[in-house]
Amino acid sequence: MAKNYYITTPIYYPSAKPHMGHAYSSIVADFFARFKSIDGFKVYFLTGTDEHGLKIQRSAEKNNKDPKVFCDEISKTFKDLTKILNLSNTDFIRTTEERHITSVQNLWNILKKNKQIYLSKYSGWYSVSDEAFYNDDEIEEKEGLKVSKSSGSSVEWVEEESFFFKLSKWEKSLLEFYENNKDFIRPKSRRNEVISFVKRGLKDLSVSRKSFSWGIKVPNDDNHVVYVWLDALTNYLSSLNYPDENNKLYKSFWPADLHIIGKDILRFHAVYWPAFLLAANITPPKKVYGHGWILSGDEKMSKSKGNILDPIEIIKVYGLDPLRYYLLKEVSFGNDGSISETKLESCINSDLANNFGNLCQRVISFAEKNCSSLIPDHSFNDDDLKILNSLSNVDKIRTMIDNQDINQYMNFIIDRLFASNKYFNDQEPWKRKNDKLRLSTIVYTALELIRKISILLYPVMPQTILKVFRAFNIDEKQINISSLKNNDFFKEKDKINKLDILFKKIEND
Ligand code: ME8
Ligand code: MG
Repeated sequence: MAKNYYITTPIYYPSAKPHMGHAYSSIVADFFARFKSIDGFKVYFLTGTDEHGLKIQRSAEKNNKDPKVFCDEISKTFKDLTKILNLSNTDFIRTTEERHITSVQNLWNILKKNKQIYLSKYSGWYSVSDEAFYNDDEIEEKEGLKVSKSSGSSVEWVEEESFFFKLSKWEKSLLEFYENNKDFIRPKSRRNEVISFVKRGLKDLSVSRKSFSWGIKVPNDDNHVVYVWLDALTNYLSSLNYPDENNKLYKSFWPADLHIIGKDILRFHAVYWPAFLLAANITPPKKVYGHGWILSGDEKMSKSKGNILDPIEIIKVYGLDPLRYYLLKEVSFGNDGSISETKLESCINSDLANNFGNLCQRVISFAEKNCSSLIPDHSFNDDDLKILNSLSNVDKIRTMIDNQDINQYMNFIIDRLFASNKYFNDQEPWKRKNDKLRLSTIVYTALELIRKISILLYPVMPQTILKVFRAFNIDEKQINISSLKNNDFFKEKDKINKLDILFKKIEND
């Protein structure tokens, strides 16, 4: 029976076109989704847009548009981006869809029935940009404006009747939950941050708003709309046809295996979300990974700061796979990373053209000239087996992925690429023309090395790797992690096809 794996990106606010930070979250999630799917898992990969709340309502007003019309337009640019980024997502959810509204209202009713929600009055700070409530001690004054200390976005004073969720009651259970599920929040530093936040004490959370209307109506109380974060988080259930807990999707994929998010929305995913779920008797997800920010200079890239790098423009110039490779390799996963075109260019030249591209080209063209473009026979010696076996340890590789250690994974690939190029150089097959079997074995070994490294690179650069595999008549369905263990996958006399240049070097004066 296939094992199941449920992974999500955040659902994005369609308040403006997507930028590189959004692309980053999506590419990272796609990387994990693709690895799991070539490792024999049935993968459910969810992304979408988060369309309610004051932030969207105001953006729509600014553009003189009805909020739904506005969301239709901008949500489409996010959906288009899933194609541009070649995401393997299973579903794209919009929180304005009926299936989601039903799901949220149902969750609300259960919380209400479980006596987790009561009516009172909210007075405090609210940031529309973060859609978050802040305590006094989380606010500071900057240039005469009250802003959130953590995000820097401005806050306004809110006083209105509101429904509250009894978050304070869940303090102890949450701490127990973190203790019993040590992997729930990753990386470790963020886990510690969340635990100390909860230990400082939790206040009940306002979960409805009355002063505007762009949201999901609170059941039996039309004057209130559901707080946008209670609404948004529920998308992870809606996509699996919640509240129908007996349907196949829900049964197969809930609880989610991994929520990929940015560190800015950690509190919502690691505190509020498991609290809502525990209060509704639903099992919380297995893991929340809070990655860092893509910086522009040394600031977070965001619309409000006007320092956007457009992923679509970058892809037009450099191609998608180089960008995917670059983001996965150069941003140390979990930390912030700044991206620059200079660094992207040097990555393309050194890692992609000189290292990987070069290995593929030279081995395949050598096989063309010396083995008539057919897989040659082989008889391995210890050198051959040693380097082949250095790419066989699937358990070690699976552990890197299950720890979300993208850096270790990428470094492993780069190290093996260097070693493979060195192997081909050191073995000097061009000097073995009178020892046919040795020459063939070196070529065979090098082809196996390319095959193995390509399997590992598939989650990073799917389009490019499919080109490489076409040269070997291997199709996408045949790509799988277990076959790393195999050192003689190729069948003698099978045809090797021509391989076009994979990456063009970038020449700059
Ligand atoms: O927060 N660097 O939506 P959002 C890296 N709707 N990642 C970034 C980034 C940056 N500069 N800017 C954004 C929301 N992101 C909510 C989520 S989930 C139930 C609801 C990424 O459009 C990061 O992962 O403001 C962030 O958390 C996500 O985009 C969504 O940002
Ligand atoms: Mg944001």
